[in-house]
Amino acid sequence: ETAVPFYDQTHQGGIATPPQRYVVFASYDLTTTDAGDLQVLLARWSASIAQLQAGRNLGTVEPSRPSGVPTDTGEAADLGPNALTVTLGLGPGVFDDRFGLARHRPARFDHLPELPSDRLDPKLTGGDLSLQACAEDPQVAYHAIRDLSRLARGTAVVRWTVMGFGRASAGKGQTTPRNLMGFKDGTRNIKTDADLDQFVWHDGTDQAWMQGGTYQVARKIQMNIENWDADQIGDQHAVFGRTKQEGAPLSGTQEFDTPDFARKDASGELVIPATSHVALAAHENNGGLKILRRSYNFTDGMDEYGQINAGLLFIAYMNDPAAFVTMQTKLGRSDRLNEYISHVGSGVFAVPPAPATGHYVAEPLFG
Ligand code: HEM
Repeated sequence: ETAVPFYDQTHQGGIATPPQRYVVFASYDLTTTDAGDLQVLLARWSASIAQLQAGRNLGTVEPSRPSGVPTDTGEAADLGPNALTVTLGLGPGVFDDRFGLARHRPARFDHLPELPSDRLDPKLTGGDLSLQACAEDPQVAYHAIRDLSRLARGTAVVRWTVMGFGRASAGKGQTTPRNLMGFKDGTRNIKTDADLDQFVWHDGTDQAWMQGGTYQVARKIQMNIENWDADQIGDQHAVFGRTKQEGAPLSGTQEFDTPDFARKDASGELVIPATSHVALAAHENNGGLKILRRSYNFTDGMDEYGQINAGLLFIAYMNDPAAFVTMQTKLGRSDRLNEYISHVGSGVFAVPPAPATGHYVAEPLFG
């Protein structure tokens, strides 16, 4: 039963932590305009996350007096920590005029612009706060979000949530899992400390409180699964620029072969099509840009037309949200994958570093 420490870490958990199997992601709207209420919530959430990550209840499951109302809902009482991490993010709205915190807004942090091929549903978009709960047991992740949401009453309400049932990204030392299109996802993800330092962790130059923090981009991406399932394998390969079973780049034979984006076949065509997902997203074709992907497969059952309602909860971390904007602008315009997906939900959040013992996330904002 592993527990991930919360206090006294350089970074919050759930970012470089090798992806656990399950996620419950929640975005919240603040219903208060009082900075003091926000401060109290961040302090209560931080102390509670520390308890939850240690595998403890949030107070009493079974009060001794019959009239007592349980403070912890109880459904994770016997499950232990299960590598739970709860990652807390602040949306752009925290830094608007409401709370008097505008001077703390990092220069590169704002709402995401509208991006090509966006099909965003306002009900699944935005939020002033985010919690990403990941664990090896789905009920542990669910319990964390449920009980942290209860604690927010009067200050914040849930805006949108996604329950992810399987990891679709690989961290250091992990085998590569598959997304719901059946392809290995995470093969060329960031896996080294050098890349984390260069592309993920914030150096705090413009805002010292963000040093060791990062930005989180969350996108709820629906897959048109029936169409995908009817697609020929040759086209599926061309969409990603990789093979399905092995996950090799079309220019190679093994999963971890380095893609050769310049290689042509006998008829002069690029072996990895220029509009394939990996050709467009690869750092070789983006001025060296990389992001840390930490996505999960989700399903919401069937939609009203009897079609499978499922996709990818794409979550990525980077030290400048412009990295996502650059990539998605390109992907949104040209990616062959666009025929089979729609981005329906979106949020961007500043994720501060982890607090020292006895302190809380984002405390320097209130100094
Ligand atoms: C690579 C799937 C959305 C960025 C890949 C790979 C797959 C995949 C199968 C190849 C294996 C790997 O290296 O991980 C998907 C699916 C998506 C999706 C199914 C949507 C449902 C996105 C989005 C972005 C993105 C929105 C960023 C804006 C990347 C990057 C790579 C990648 C940077 C690595 C490319 C390389 O260096 O070769 N994706 N992806 N993906 N994807 Fe996606």
